[in-house]
Amino acid sequence: MKSLSLKVQQIEESQTLAFTQLARKMQSEGIDVVSLTAGEPDFPTPPHVKMAAIQAIDENFTHYTANQGIPALIKAIAEKFISENNLQFDTSQILVSCGAKHSIFNALQAVCNKGDEVVIQSPYWVSYPEMVKLVDAKPVFVNATAENNFKISATQLRRVINEKTKVFIFNSPSNPTGAVYTQGEIEELADVIRDTGIYVISDEIYEKVIYDGVKHFSMGSIKPIRDQVITVNGVSKAFAMTGWRIGYLGGAKPVVDAAAKVQSQVTSNATSIAQRAAAAALSAPTKDVDEMVTEFKRRRDFAVEQISKIPGIELKEPKGAFYLFPSLQSFVGKRWNGKMIRDDMDIAQFLLSEEHLAVVPGSPFGAKNHIRLSYACSMKTLQQAMERLKNACKKLHEAY
Ligand SMILES: Cc1ncc(COP(=O)(O)O)c(C=O)c1O
Repeated sequence: MKSLSLKVQQIEESQTLAFTQLARKMQSEGIDVVSLTAGEPDFPTPPHVKMAAIQAIDENFTHYTANQGIPALIKAIAEKFISENNLQFDTSQILVSCGAKHSIFNALQAVCNKGDEVVIQSPYWVSYPEMVKLVDAKPVFVNATAENNFKISATQLRRVINEKTKVFIFNSPSNPTGAVYTQGEIEELADVIRDTGIYVISDEIYEKVIYDGVKHFSMGSIKPIRDQVITVNGVSKAFAMTGWRIGYLGGAKPVVDAAAKVQSQVTSNATSIAQRAAAAALSAPTKDVDEMVTEFKRRRDFAVEQISKIPGIELKEPKGAFYLFPSLQSFVGKRWNGKMIRDDMDIAQFLLSEEHLAVVPGSPFGAKNHIRLSYACSMKTLQQAMERLKNACKKLHEAY
């Protein structure tokens, strides 16, 4: 048999899944594993959204739709973009896809050529660099440090942009750090972007999961760079609809047309039933979303307080999304049962084997010696997890 694609061999598999799968395997063997690996809300999809899907099935709304998406959903997205994001798009400037992940990939396909550089802030969502490689472009990282609240500055951005740069992928609120950029900070980045002609893919999937009165701001609403920004969003996180696979983007007409052309040859439309459900989610009042975010905030506050009492862990309080991204650097170099803890992979392994606590190591997000903890789980699970984390850190703290 001939060899597999070289491109695919260079792509990493989603490493966030590795520890989740290991934890599941241990659970299936009867081991009481507490898992903080989830990347999705633990709430059910709201009832009125489920009803819209059931009605779609009952009405036999089960065939191909227009590639771009159904008019009701496109209209709901256009209205949402205006009222919530100050983004004015004609309906022809919106494309519905099979999740925000698909929207981002379509956007990259639409604008990237071989050898183009794509700037990514690091720590980053694991899929960005791999998607960039899949379109034959080159990821270029800009380091967002904990000292700067995991945000990059305009100066840092200016430094990496050159004639090969095609895209800047921007993500606020961020997975994995929970960092949220202010309007002022985004305007400073926009000043850099304005004269370069590069595109921005602004991934706003966590926009509604935001705390402490911090306001989400859409980079695409800044007039001078309006046509450069491709705004990506979806219903997965805000409406607890990860399995329905509906994402969307809005941008300049030529970019959206190009992305739609790619989609028309690869998947065609997103699922007809899920589109009707997404239209219902976007059109209804946000009561369910508000309740979910209030609960996330309660859990975040609890977990941040608990972690602040654990010697050896450093944590920046996240302002959005549902993850904590602490550094456990101080435990690197310690020995446990004769084995050296070399990095975050070993720390995650230690937490799982010693305390039966599953977390995701930071390296796949571009941040060594950090771990990602998701608080998209019940308060009871979170309490158990904090107890186990405390025990594990005590052991390591006392180790030599
Ligand atoms: C930053 C970020 N963008 C996009 C996505 C993908 O969302 P969707 O489920 O809409 O494909 C995720 C999912 O984890 C994410 O964390």
